[in-house]
Amino acid sequence: MSYVLDPAWHAERARLENISALYDPGTAEICDRLGLAPGWRCLDVGAGTGGVAERFAERVGPAGEVLAVDADTRFLEPLAGGALSVRRMDVTAEPLPGNRFDLVHSRLLLEHLASPEPVLRSMVRAARPGGWVVVEDIDWTTVRAVDPPSPAHDRVVTALLTALAVGPYDQNFGRKVPRLLRAAGLRDVQVRAVSLPLTADPVAGQPAWDLLIDQLAPRLLAAGLVDEDDLDAFHRLWHDGDILGFGPLMVSAWGRRAESADA
Ligand SMILES: C[S@@+](CC[C@H](N)C(=O)[O-])C[C@H]1O[C@@H](n2cnc3c(N)ncnc32)[C@H](O)[C@@H]1O
Repeated sequence: MSYVLDPAWHAERARLENISALYDPGTAEICDRLGLAPGWRCLDVGAGTGGVAERFAERVGPAGEVLAVDADTRFLEPLAGGALSVRRMDVTAEPLPGNRFDLVHSRLLLEHLASPEPVLRSMVRAARPGGWVVVEDIDWTTVRAVDPPSPAHDRVVTALLTALAVGPYDQNFGRKVPRLLRAAGLRDVQVRAVSLPLTADPVAGQPAWDLLIDQLAPRLLAAGLVDEDDLDAFHRLWHDGDILGFGPLMVSAWGRRAESADA
């Protein structure tokens, strides 16, 4: 398994928790709308620090079941217990348990895979007939839009997108998700897309940017994509600037597995 970001980076937990804080409420809203309720069986694929799996466990209660799987379970293992169990697996190498779950979810996973379709099909097979599959991935199309215009922001974002393009990573994966869900045989596919407004904060900065750019900074500098002055200017902008920008577009799409398992 190869991964464009570094799971061993010292602040990776903080980066994943920031993602969870930004996006868990939207995920919960979608899953609640789909009827998530006590007794449901849920699967979170590429569960990260487990924010979504914990929310699922609260909703399904002791009569339900939540399985959180990830290739790296160091943040998940302490959460195991009650309805929530944890399994370490590389989903590109092993199939998920089949025909079992009322709800199968992944967020920010498929965009990282060189071949997302087989994993998506494995997720669809993991759902029970009639069960829901929810896939959330981002599309970086919105991140250049800032006001007032900023050459520092533009340079650092261009460098970031250039580094991500080395892959395996599809920075425009979000827009493809609804089509891929239909191609995987899901019915009643619906889509929602949200780009969060981002502003500077003199104390906290803008953690969503800081935690990503800090991780990638050595790579961006070594490749000559930015220099220290660019990074300082970017940092100042998101700490002290009077700036409004937008997070990447989070595309959430969901659909239902056919009632007949072989449909
Ligand atoms: C960006 S994080 C997203 C975490 C979480 N889904 C969230 O949105 O907060 C991607 C997660 O996918 C996991 N992952 C990446 N490739 C994987 C694979 N082949 N099999 C299982 N997990 C994988 C990583 O370990 C990481 O925890």
